[in-house]
Amino acid sequence: METLAIHGGSPVREKLLPYGRQSLDDADIQAVVEVLKSDWLTTGPKVGEFEERFAAWVGARHAVSFSSGTAALHGAAFAAGLGPGDEAITTPMTFCATANCVLYQGATPVFADVSADTLNLDPGELARKLSVRGSSRVKAIIAVDYAGHPAALDELGVLAKTHGALLIEDACHALGAEYRGKRVGGIADMTVFSFHPVKHLTTGEGGMVATNDARLAETLRRFRNHGISSEARQRQESGQWFYEMVLLGFNYRLTDIACALGLTQLEKLAPNLARRREIAAQYAEAFRELPAIVTPTVRDGVDPALHLYPVRLNLEMLAVGRGEIFRALRAENIGVNVHYIPVHQHPYYRERFTSQERYPVAEDAYERLISLPMFHAMTARDAQDVIHAVTKIVDHYRKASGAEAGSSSMPIGQSRQEEA
Ligand SMILES: Cc1ncc(COP(=O)(O)O)c(C=O)c1O
Repeated sequence: METLAIHGGSPVREKLLPYGRQSLDDADIQAVVEVLKSDWLTTGPKVGEFEERFAAWVGARHAVSFSSGTAALHGAAFAAGLGPGDEAITTPMTFCATANCVLYQGATPVFADVSADTLNLDPGELARKLSVRGSSRVKAIIAVDYAGHPAALDELGVLAKTHGALLIEDACHALGAEYRGKRVGGIADMTVFSFHPVKHLTTGEGGMVATNDARLAETLRRFRNHGISSEARQRQESGQWFYEMVLLGFNYRLTDIACALGLTQLEKLAPNLARRREIAAQYAEAFRELPAIVTPTVRDGVDPALHLYPVRLNLEMLAVGRGEIFRALRAENIGVNVHYIPVHQHPYYRERFTSQERYPVAEDAYERLISLPMFHAMTARDAQDVIHAVTKIVDHYRKASGAEAGSSSMPIGQSRQEEA
């Protein structure tokens, strides 16, 4: 058996393989340079062009760009009409920005637990929450497409509609994912994307809200521009100086520099997604032989976009916990990460929301999750290094055979057989 790097052996890689990173080529750089030489650095022609192409790509009527995914979520929470006294129901298994956007509006986030297979908002738990709380205060349901696997959008959409709430889909992980034959973006009332460098497409920082509703799109456009009813470029072109501020907005605009990058990145999105799917297939094939590693589930009718590749450890088969496995992988120079600490467990939320409510599925998953490297510039050799390191570590820490019999609480069989 190989000696683990954490015990003084040689690491699988000499340099750290990150869990995610951008890839830019000369066309991206050239597009940015051209904008830098042009008249408009912000809210010029590239913004509208990027929004139009993006909307067409995801299959939505409108797309409104924002300076980050977080700002886009804030815009969606505002457009949904959330305010003090209102509630929005969301998942604890997400990045804190998903719930924070509700707080920005002075409203209250309420959590409902996730489904064990996808770790997405469980429609049954949502229905239970809606019936317990009475729906009148619930103005929005905010689902997350965890790791790029679309949430149960049809079921959640029906529940939202029945209770007079809007469905906001946080698809920051899921650009390019398909749900029942459609790309995410044109399905929920508003779908939010992020263009952070670890995402499928990057503009440095950036975000977008896609919607089919013209009124929501108009509100989003005003909100990201101080609540002002027209843009500076429109006024310059029409020779007008007059403008009105009609609502309290922010400066959440995305620059022309960023949108030029977004346009060239969008052209490479389809092959980049295909590459991520190949890496996922390589992992799934290798880990089929390793029952201590539970690979992500893919439900029927769904094609995930694979922003992350979170595996769950079958801890019942291992002599150590997630912390030790994580540290051992880092010592091998495999840049693993954990997505996510459930939002309600962060100190800010614990101190303010004193409800003792538990979310057992999300909490159990958190103890087991490790995100393996997943980005489209990864080579087959990179993926093989990850597989080598995981296998070496799991073999080292595997409990003596027989100890694990019948002890797993994970949906292992289902997950393996459904992996794309
Ligand atoms: C699920 C989710 N929502 C929202 C965000 C916020 O996006 P941004 O970093 O672009 O503000 C992220 C960022 O990683 C995310 O993962």
